[in-house]
Amino acid sequence: MILDVVAGARPNFMKIASILHAMAARKEAGGPLHWRLVHTGQHYDPRMSGEFFAQLGIPEPDVNLGVGSGTQAEQTGAIMQGYERLLLETPSVCCLVVGDVTSTMACAITAQKLHIPVAHVEGGLRSGDWSMPEEINRLATDAVTNWFFTTSEHANANLRRAGVDEERIFFVGNTMIDTLLANMDRLRAPDFVQERHLQPGGYFVTTLHRPANVDSADGFSRLLRAIGEGCRDLPVVFPVHPRTAKTLRELPDFPSNILLVDPQPYLEFNWLVKHAKGVITDSGGITEETTVMGIPCLTLRDNTERPETVEIGTNELIGTDPVAIKPALDRLFAGEWKKGRVPEMWDGKTGARIVAQLERLLA
Ligand code: UD1
Repeated sequence: MILDVVAGARPNFMKIASILHAMAARKEAGGPLHWRLVHTGQHYDPRMSGEFFAQLGIPEPDVNLGVGSGTQAEQTGAIMQGYERLLLETPSVCCLVVGDVTSTMACAITAQKLHIPVAHVEGGLRSGDWSMPEEINRLATDAVTNWFFTTSEHANANLRRAGVDEERIFFVGNTMIDTLLANMDRLRAPDFVQERHLQPGGYFVTTLHRPANVDSADGFSRLLRAIGEGCRDLPVVFPVHPRTAKTLRELPDFPSNILLVDPQPYLEFNWLVKHAKGVITDSGGITEETTVMGIPCLTLRDNTERPETVEIGTNELIGTDPVAIKPALDRLFAGEWKKGRVPEMWDGKTGARIVAQLERLLA
């Protein structure tokens, strides 16, 4: 029984790591599953891909579709063609996809059209914001998914509302948090921490790459000024995503306390988060990690597909208006930020729960 595990972009890699490790452990104990790791090549820079494989002990992909960059439709088409060719040559018994990137959606649709059942890890998330490609990917993926592995009761409720039968929903927890907990003792400081004399609790981390925040030089520049000022004189470490780097080159200047660095590998990035005073981001996954680490998180978006990070965790939706950033940071500096708790089932054992269910479903 060969099962495909699909990954394409950076936020997929920490999610598949936990599942692959759980599958390897079961195989060693005599489990029936065999798998093929399919990398679509959506992210291809070593800093966005290869370094994550190395740090997280993910084996080399069995197949790399090598699709590279392009528009949404170009990437989708290239992934579908490459994956279809693979499945026609060597079919699999199940296509397991994770998250909400273009690779997730393209492979799910391709597999289902060839009558291969689809398992979606992190199924059921909804922001309701159709302006983001990820929301379209979530809707399209879930429309062709057989088995949903979910991270929260919100996701379960979204699926039930969409008419999904209870027996197709498996509330298992969060594979991204499996990986974080498994690596907590291995986190390590990047070299610049010492060079720049960054102190625990004495700096912020920011990541921004959503088109709405970074694609216009003017809007991006105002956001950065608000972040720089709001963080007072503390350094703000900003690992720059390739998309963001393009706009940054067009900016006349930016606040002097913002420290631009390359995209960080997994262990270094999460070390930075764990020791930060706070995080300012437009990522979804990072809001889950800050929740588990108990670090205040300001999300520069109007909505989230992960409401539990706001209701239970340390995350707050600040919106995209730069004017809202300083008052939020003032509350943080005044020690008034909520403490938060860890959501149910985010306990480090999700990968094992998924593999146990897959063995049963595919038996
Ligand atoms: C993708 C995901 C997003 C995720 C993000 C995290 C989708 C729709 N979006 O967005 O959910 O939060 O990854 O990183 O799938 N590029 C490089 N090197 C690479 C990869 C990309 O330089 O290894 C450049 C591309 O040329 C392009 C830009 O980065 O200009 C964006 O890449 P793309 O894969 O289209 O989407 P992301 O913005 O990374």
